[in-house]
Amino acid sequence: MEFVMVEVKGGIATVTLDRPEKLNALNAVVLDELEETFQGIKGNDEVRVIIVTGAGEKSFVAGADISQFPSLSPEEAHEFAKRGQAVFSLIESSSKPVIAAINGFALGGGCELALACHLRFAAENAMFGQPEVKLGVIAGYGGTQRLPRLIGRGRALDLLLSGRMIKADEALQMGLVNGVFPRTELLSKVEEYAELLMAQGPQAQALTIRAVYQGIENTLSEGLEEEALAFRDVFKTEDRIEGATAFIERRPPKFKNR
Ligand code: COA
Repeated sequence: MEFVMVEVKGGIATVTLDRPEKLNALNAVVLDELEETFQGIKGNDEVRVIIVTGAGEKSFVAGADISQFPSLSPEEAHEFAKRGQAVFSLIESSSKPVIAAINGFALGGGCELALACHLRFAAENAMFGQPEVKLGVIAGYGGTQRLPRLIGRGRALDLLLSGRMIKADEALQMGLVNGVFPRTELLSKVEEYAELLMAQGPQAQALTIRAVYQGIENTLSEGLEEEALAFRDVFKTEDRIEGATAFIERRPPKFKNR
């Protein structure tokens, strides 16, 4: 692949957007390659957790590729948004936890990519923003929907309407990221966190992700019913026997993802 690198090691797939000369901006090829990558990971039993990060010192992803904008017709713009949304929804629908390791600029589509991941950790130098309004356009890869769902409407509208950039500490305070680490330690800390995730029941995590995301789309009573069904489904697994047995035997569980 030209712009996306994947390394699978010890259960972790690290997906690196690799277009540093354009601050890893998303063009059609990057989106195609991201899609191919996540489709591949879906069927790869070796992978338990996915980390998404950006190549280079400066940027996670500095947005959709602006050079494509001037020539877009309104109809093409609709397709453009749909395409990015589809790829990001594929990432979000992963049954394996996906963590964004935000190593610099996460602007526009870059912030939206981070929002499509299940968890977000940032380097101290990371900068966040939805600067589309500065270009006279709006967020089109899910920002107007996922940002208010994550941090609340007021905070989301602050970012979406002002286009202002915020630093990692403000992003943490807003609940936009789960944690902030020194730049040089970001990947090792995120890998440590991935190890913590990998020690837990994989089927339970998959069902949790499903219940949380389906629940957000539904009423509380529908969400509670989803949760009860997921609770039923987890009791069909071998891992739940192992989890309880290991607790009683005072040893760490050995989950088999079955
Ligand atoms: N689309 C296309 N190219 C982009 C890009 C984007 N979203 N963001 C950065 N680049 C390119 C620049 O054009 C430049 O390319 P060049 O060297 O061929 O001219 C290269 O990446 C480096 O960017 P540069 O602007 O020189 O770096 P900087 O450190 O001075 O500024 C930013 C960094 C992130 C503040 C600035 O690049 C920026 O504002 N980018 C656009 C962010 C944005 O609006 N994203 C939302 C798009 S909807």
